[in-house]
Amino acid sequence: MDKKLILDACCGGRMFWFEKNNPNTLYIDIRSLPAGTLNRTPKFEIQPDIIMDFRKLNFPDKSFKLVVFDPPHLKSLDLNSWIAAKYGTLNPKTWRDDIRQGFNECWRVLEDYGILIFKWSKSHDNRPKRDISLQEILKILPAKPLFGHSSGNKLNTIWMAFMKIPGGPQ
Ligand SMILES: C[S@@+](CC[C@H](N)C(=O)[O-])C[C@H]1O[C@@H](n2cnc3c(N)ncnc32)[C@H](O)[C@@H]1O
Repeated sequence: MDKKLILDACCGGRMFWFEKNNPNTLYIDIRSLPAGTLNRTPKFEIQPDIIMDFRKLNFPDKSFKLVVFDPPHLKSLDLNSWIAAKYGTLNPKTWRDDIRQGFNECWRVLEDYGILIFKWSKSHDNRPKRDISLQEILKILPAKPLFGHSSGNKLNTIWMAFMKIPGGPQ
């Protein structure tokens, strides 16, 4: 495989990509899901280039110039629900360690001065049992975002940019 510049660390259905097969990007996810699995969205599929766990990335340090990290953001979901099937779900007991490990791994495989884009969302219905606030997430991350932008009808999604500056958090 040609060397890729960009890593999508949990690509899911690649819904936010303008070009779903960007030639400079390596798409990974912990699972694949064939089209036709979800009744609501029969065309939806998860077909990563490589099945891999973002908590243990099998790449050398400083392999990518840009990493995008959009992990599942809801916990305590019914594992059989269509939202869980489409977006994955967080383990209610281990989510802090899982997100921290994922972030640390994304950071490790990022080149110096590389950019990490981290996307976080709250659910549309504000259910405290499954929602995790931005403040809670920022508390567990080892680096601070440079800036972020909220989007969505109810502004429940935020995109944040981090730069790996040598000498900063590793
Ligand atoms: C919010 S979705 C990503 C949506 C995607 N960005 C898009 O544009 O469609 C989160 C994805 O993280 C994946 N995931 C969950 N745990 C993971 C892990 N430990 N390693 C890699 N991927 C994981 C899920 O399978 C799910 O596809």
